Amino acid sequence: MQTGTRRVVLVGTGFVGMSFAYSMVNQGGAEELVLIDVNHEKAVGEAMDLNHGIPFGPEKIEIWAGDYSDCKTADIVVVTAGVNQQPGETRLALVERNAKIMRDVIKNVMQSGFNGILLIASNPVDVLTYIAWQESGLPKHRVIGTGTTLDTARLRYQMGKYLDVDPRNVHGYIVGEHGDTETPLWSHTSVGVKPIFDIIKDHPEYKREDLEEIYVNVRDAAYHIIERKRATYYGIGMCITRIVKAILNDENSVLPVSAYLDGEYGLHDIFTGVPAIVNRNGIREVFNLNISSEELEQLTKSVSILKETLDTVR
Ligand code: 2OP
Repeated sequence: MQTGTRRVVLVGTGFVGMSFAYSMVNQGGAEELVLIDVNHEKAVGEAMDLNHGIPFGPEKIEIWAGDYSDCKTADIVVVTAGVNQQPGETRLALVERNAKIMRDVIKNVMQSGFNGILLIASNPVDVLTYIAWQESGLPKHRVIGTGTTLDTARLRYQMGKYLDVDPRNVHGYIVGEHGDTETPLWSHTSVGVKPIFDIIKDHPEYKREDLEEIYVNVRDAAYHIIERKRATYYGIGMCITRIVKAILNDENSVLPVSAYLDGEYGLHDIFTGVPAIVNRNGIREVFNLNISSEELEQLTKSVSILKETLDTVR
């Protein structure tokens, strides 16, 4: 972590990148926000547009369209560069195109002398976080993917609706691939501190099958959105802001980010979405939860699919 001015660099000023930038500017927390894009003029236009909102924002912030040399003193470099899914396309199908882009981006970032935290959001995020880690040579705790933060937010939102409670009081996580093989950890899901299975037992109107339906909706949410509006960006933009703030503020927040597994859950040498403590040094600790055998089986399967995909590009 650098000292002094809190600088965040964003690489990729598409919808996801700019949704993050917009939410970051509105929430505050960074003193400098640098926008980098292969189309520099696009970044210039985005910086101009965002700057015109500063008089209505919570605090002073410097925003400009920069280049990779600006990464040298950055605390965090957020990467959203890459192509996104067409309707019906899986995230994994993007791997070849986006691995190449990721390698180029990370090479350029590292050439600046960057020594902060990398936060990867491009898809397939777990595989690309691994590539970014490899390419950067940074310690594993300083390379983080957005992982299942968005899926977990979708789960909390839907559970909040279903149970008619504040989604911020729904505690539960989706783990594994940010994609089709992700897994809900029902064995560790609670409202306040009341386990979801106890809630179902006490309230006959809530049913176990409904949980399965909620999970399927969460898992497939991006397909439903992309079919309608061709892309998803507000939700992920706010997830990135949440992680960036946890890092900049040294929050030690528990977030289901894509983190390097080194024996947790019996899994090795892969990045995937798991609850982890995030602070100014990156990942402080990956939670090694005692999950049900069914959940472990699903998580293991998810990781083997990620490894297969990674093998095609490494
Ligand atoms: C999402 O889940 C497409 O990964 C993106 O919204």
